Amino acid sequence: MTIGVDQERLVNEIEELALISDAEAPAVTRIVFTPTDLKARAWLIARCEKAGLAVRQDPIGNIFARWTGSDPSLAAVGTGSHIDAIPNAGKYDGVVGVLGGLEAIRSLRDSGFRPKRSIELLLFTSEEPTRFGIGCLGSRLLSGTLSADAARKLLDKAGASIEEVRRNAGFQGSLEEVRLPDGYYKAFVELHIEQGPLLEQQKIPLGIVTKIAAPASLRFSIAGVGGHAGAVLMPDRRDALCAAAELILAIESAARTSGAVDTVATVGICEVFPGAVNSIPSRVDLTVDIRDTNLERRDAVMLAIQAARQTVAVRRQVPIHEELLNADAPAQCDPSITETLSQCCVKHQLAFIPMVSRAYHDSLFMSRTAPVAMLFIPCRNGYSHRPDEYASREDIGRGVTVLAEALATLAA
Ligand code: GLV
Ligand code: MN
Ligand code: MN
Repeated sequence: MTIGVDQERLVNEIEELALISDAEAPAVTRIVFTPTDLKARAWLIARCEKAGLAVRQDPIGNIFARWTGSDPSLAAVGTGSHIDAIPNAGKYDGVVGVLGGLEAIRSLRDSGFRPKRSIELLLFTSEEPTRFGIGCLGSRLLSGTLSADAARKLLDKAGASIEEVRRNAGFQGSLEEVRLPDGYYKAFVELHIEQGPLLEQQKIPLGIVTKIAAPASLRFSIAGVGGHAGAVLMPDRRDALCAAAELILAIESAARTSGAVDTVATVGICEVFPGAVNSIPSRVDLTVDIRDTNLERRDAVMLAIQAARQTVAVRRQVPIHEELLNADAPAQCDPSITETLSQCCVKHQLAFIPMVSRAYHDSLFMSRTAPVAMLFIPCRNGYSHRPDEYASREDIGRGVTVLAEALATLAA
């Protein structure tokens, strides 16, 4: 079997999908269940159907496109990722795993290969946390990591519930139905850009992920006292933004002093009310993202942040409310799938290194319901979550070739 990946077709599709966006090119913004996201989904479904795949969607909008194997009673082999994109993102995050997965299936079919197990392409709903504050909604529900009841409590910024939003987007049925039965997948492999610089720096075309770091996020709401920026004197102020500034620096310091470079903490959202130049900030909402490859160390940093919250609140006399959005455990990739991926790299004479994924992915949650592994390709300068994110067609082609070989091996 010779796998002939059509790089031209794949790159054209990546470019075409990037145009379905709410940001001006080259930036991509595709927030879950917006008209743009729905348009991109319809575009993808048409491509899957054109490739002869049987498409179904579940009540949260996860899309399954199946190439039925000669023994459909066997557990399927899955691959896929996401196509939602954070504001002002690039073209490749998630998309390489979805369109690359589709191209892997097409190239296997064109090579004459016929799978024994079904091979299924999976598009996960809302890998990005932009709209509902928590990432990997689709895979959390598929794996039972998030219960249907907990999901129903999620609201977007406009106060719309996920129930309302998904039903308006055309996804009916009960969220309870999303959970996959045990043993649904024999194996799940996600192809993704690295989102960091190591492969490029070491001039290695492929990374085989052995573990995925543990993410957590917290939201703080700081209640200060507003007032006139001219009339209220400094000793009398309880400025919510000044308290936020101290807390943000304490968060940075907690991560920096954890004792390991693997600890990272980011305050990516800081909303100031009322947001007028001549008004003392009366409220600030912060959202913090904390990650580590080591769960105990990540949790110790969270405790340090919580202690800083109390200190700042008491000293500045501003109540600071804290909400835990998520605190997930790290995942291990399945050694037999990573071994299969290594053998596929060797077969195609492609160098690879084992890697840790510092970004989270749907595979983190899929690991709770199926054996998973991930394959990374380089991206320029390690840039991701920005409009100049870039992966070369050759690197994408190598990733898809190894993915196709691995899917064939796992489904044979
Ligand atoms: C996924 O997009 C992440 O933030 O790691
Ligand atoms: Mn992302
Ligand atoms: Mn991603």
